[in-house]
Amino acid sequence: MGFSTYFSKQAKKPSGIFGRLFMSRIFDKGNLELNNFVIETLAIKKSDHVLEIGCGTGSLLKRIANELENGSIEGIDFSKTMISVAKNKNKRHVLKKKAIIRLGNFDELRFENNSYDKIFSVNTIYFWNNPVSTISKAIDLLKADGMMVLGFHSKDEMERMDLDENIFQLYSLQDVRNLLKTDKILKEVEIISKKGQDKVNYCAIGIKGNQEGRL
Ligand SMILES: C[S@@+](CC[C@H](N)C(=O)[O-])C[C@H]1O[C@@H](n2cnc3c(N)ncnc32)[C@H](O)[C@@H]1O
Repeated sequence: MGFSTYFSKQAKKPSGIFGRLFMSRIFDKGNLELNNFVIETLAIKKSDHVLEIGCGTGSLLKRIANELENGSIEGIDFSKTMISVAKNKNKRHVLKKKAIIRLGNFDELRFENNSYDKIFSVNTIYFWNNPVSTISKAIDLLKADGMMVLGFHSKDEMERMDLDENIFQLYSLQDVRNLLKTDKILKEVEIISKKGQDKVNYCAIGIKGNQEGRL
């Protein structure tokens, strides 16, 4: 296996010592700008109930938990290595039950519908086998008027990186907009951007409409 394939596999689902030491550092440093943009976009309220899909090292989860008072945040990730790093980083919040960190694939885990104010995911859309169904499930979990935020980088910039295209599914802005617009229950869809040091950071925002819209 070449390094590009190995690295891409690790980015999708970090494992072992390489995942714990190397990928953790790459996520925390390399994704910082995008994570900053996502937290700014989420505009967390102290009482929010929040879900993060693919929480990785749990760094952004920790920053959000720090902002909550009577709210809570749940982070899920299907990498055992990342769950262990995230739990370690968030011991205090987990003990106080302000944060729940669970191992599993978002598509398979069970959650309560209409129960989150905000759901977000950063740099994970590339790995979703069926993004329409994953997005639709996330929207079902949101309360009416709840907000979904997907942080990502665009296909044209990601193509310049040495990534395995069998592992990374890349999306243009229009592709992401189309994915969100497929779900008619979203009453607003918008993509906002912020220029970073070497890439533009994007947040795709979907606001859930009234429940009665779902057939
Ligand atoms: C590239 S990392 C990004 C981590 C973090 N969001 C960040 O910005 O630093 C992608 C993470 O999402 C997780 N992941 C990808 N698809 C997932 C899924 N369907 N369910 C749960 N976790 C998933 C991976 O294990 C990995 O930790």
